Amino acid sequence: MRWGFGISKKIFITATGTDIGKTFVTALIVKKLRDNGYKAGYYKAALSGAEVTENGIVPDDAYYVNKIAKINENVDNLVSYVYKEPVSPHLASQIEGNPVEISKVVEDFNKALSKYDYLTMEGSGGIVCPIRYDNKKIMLEDIIKELGLSTLIIADAGLGTINNVVLTVEYLKNRGIPINGIILNHYSKGNMLHEDNIKMIEEITKVKIVALVEENDKELNIDINKLLEMYDD
Ligand SMILES: Nc1ncnc2c1ncn2[C@@H]1O[C@H](COP(=O)(O)OP(=O)(O)O)[C@@H](O)[C@H]1O
Ligand SMILES: [Mg+2]
Repeated sequence: MRWGFGISKKIFITATGTDIGKTFVTALIVKKLRDNGYKAGYYKAALSGAEVTENGIVPDDAYYVNKIAKINENVDNLVSYVYKEPVSPHLASQIEGNPVEISKVVEDFNKALSKYDYLTMEGSGGIVCPIRYDNKKIMLEDIIKELGLSTLIIADAGLGTINNVVLTVEYLKNRGIPINGIILNHYSKGNMLHEDNIKMIEEITKVKIVALVEENDKELNIDINKLLEMYDD
């Protein structure tokens, strides 16, 4: 393992929606870093729709990234709040209790940050995601800002993505949250629509598409230095 210089680096993974591939791509990102000798970890604040097995509730996203990237962590350390209901965390916690406290997220995030040189935090849903909505109101962007993170946007390569990416970029800009890059998922080389989407998204947003992920990719196709540049101090 290559050790850093005491400053851990971090990035927040968001997407144009739920099921776009945040977890799939995050696993490839963390795997790439670890395969290159970097101490890379994963963290997620709130996960809903967790799988219920005879061994208890499994936080699937954390479990998947832990396995693919071989982080070898206890999954309980990778996620702060786990809900069974497959609904937004604000609604899941209205049903199940245990609403998100920002102070716990900050504490768990910093604990993860102290263990790893490169910490990748996965968001919940897309960029507009109520995390808690009762007597306290927390939106996903409040967490991103509290932790001082920049973002990497995961989007689909296909039809409709220009609209979804531009809306996501505009929302983030409006909230003063930096965007370090975009990754397109479910990309097929040579697909005319996909190739044009790359061009048009960069043209309209002025944000770089830093990697393309194809169906069932086992590795992230990106220069390691370019990937390291996505992380902030
Ligand atoms: N490039 C890909 N190739 C194959 N399966 C993918 C790919 N991207 C996403 N998936 C699958 O699509 C589903 C949703 O992706 P996931 O990463 O869980 O989305 P999110 O974390 O954004 O909700 C998962 O079953 C995942 O394994
Ligand atoms: Mg996920």
